[in-house]
Amino acid sequence: MTISTLNANSTLAFTHRFEPAPHPGVAPLLLLHGTGGDENDLLPLGRALSPDAALLSPRGKVLEGGMPRFFRRLAEGVFDQEDVKRRANELADFVAEARARYGLAPPVAVGFSNGANIAAAMLLLRPEALAGAVLLRAMVPLDPAPAGDLAVARVLILSGAMDPIVPADNAAALARMLSANGAAVEQVTVPAGHGLTQSDLAQARAWMNALRGNR
Ligand code: MLT
Repeated sequence: MTISTLNANSTLAFTHRFEPAPHPGVAPLLLLHGTGGDENDLLPLGRALSPDAALLSPRGKVLEGGMPRFFRRLAEGVFDQEDVKRRANELADFVAEARARYGLAPPVAVGFSNGANIAAAMLLLRPEALAGAVLLRAMVPLDPAPAGDLAVARVLILSGAMDPIVPADNAAALARMLSANGAAVEQVTVPAGHGLTQSDLAQARAWMNALRGNR
């Protein structure tokens, strides 16, 4: 099967890649890369997780030493809270524009590291933007968390047992925070560090298959 990839980056607010759905009807995926990544990074992961989905993959606009990110941080794990809010809103606006442009249903975010953290911030601040999320190595993006209504969101958090960047209690706090706002949250700790492994792929794929079965 040939899938055309459009690099329709000139008029929407984020440089991005978009791949149309080979078989429409499956929830699109919003792919959010980690620090130093770009809009190309997670396309293969997205296609592996949901072969029939449209893929929307923006590039973070914040540069840290030349490395793209989705929001500013003051130090490792210490986030500029005002920038997190501003950038999460900006990204949610982009998702709305892209949905109108490409005719998409609300997407499921698949975010890694910094991309997972901005996805978590979007869930907390703009819950209407996402149908759910796979958060790979996520931590709490906003503290205190705003109260929101995440009644329709399903969230999978995949944490690494040996992750040197995300403390286990921080990932658990994020799971509690999203649950308190009404999301159906599953958190799984895989035998890994901060990087992704085959366990992540297997867990995320199984969760994605179950999500499709529930719709
Ligand atoms: C972040 O800055 O969002 C997290 O520390 C993860 C990272 O990007 O290193």
